[in-house]
Amino acid sequence: MPQKKKQEPLFITFEGIDGCGKSTQILKTYQFLQANGLKVKMFREPGSTEISEKIRNILLDKKSDISDITELLLYEAARSEITIKEIQPALKQGHIVLCDRYYDSTTAYQGYGRKLDIRMVKSLHKVATSGLVPDLTFVFDVGLDIAFSRRGKDKDRLESQSKAFFQRVRAGFLEIARKERRRVKRIDAAQPVDKVFEDLKQYLVKRLSL
Ligand code: TYD
Repeated sequence: MPQKKKQEPLFITFEGIDGCGKSTQILKTYQFLQANGLKVKMFREPGSTEISEKIRNILLDKKSDISDITELLLYEAARSEITIKEIQPALKQGHIVLCDRYYDSTTAYQGYGRKLDIRMVKSLHKVATSGLVPDLTFVFDVGLDIAFSRRGKDKDRLESQSKAFFQRVRAGFLEIARKERRRVKRIDAAQPVDKVFEDLKQYLVKRLSL
């Protein structure tokens, strides 16, 4: 029988370039926490609400011709929806909330990738999140060759960006991890799936006192 633990609300985000393997890891984390008798909810960004999923379709559609600032604002708009409608209520109810991407993705993709002003980008995060900051963030770091080989053939609008773009995005995530060591943990995602999860679990177990 899984042991009942004292539940504290906790907001954990999963970050990294496309093909880093974060979606597999968030699922493993969800199952691990549930098996430990914890209340846990899982969301993805952009998405997880009706409006945010519509915004996601616009953003990922290869036929969309979107200017960089509009792209930035659409990601933040989708974030505002999910934050107000899903994440904040779930945290208030004492859930552990897992989110596949959050504002660090915008810093990395729109800030570093699109070369938009980082301070301006970060000021928008505050508006979109009402100041909510993840308690713990995992950055799954992997080289571009491995990441590209893991992705499906049918690339969406963002996945169709150049190698140089993804190099900047990866460097952006690493910079975020360097600057915010307490919150953001870099995990070597070139390792086998189970080893990546072992590394993640060490941080998780420590943070949750499991
Ligand atoms: P994701 O759901 O990880 O893609 P997939 O379903 O293909 O695994 O994310 C969608 C894409 O949006 C991804 O290429 C990263 C990009 N993105 C940004 O550029 N900025 C953001 O703020 C977010 C959340 C995602």
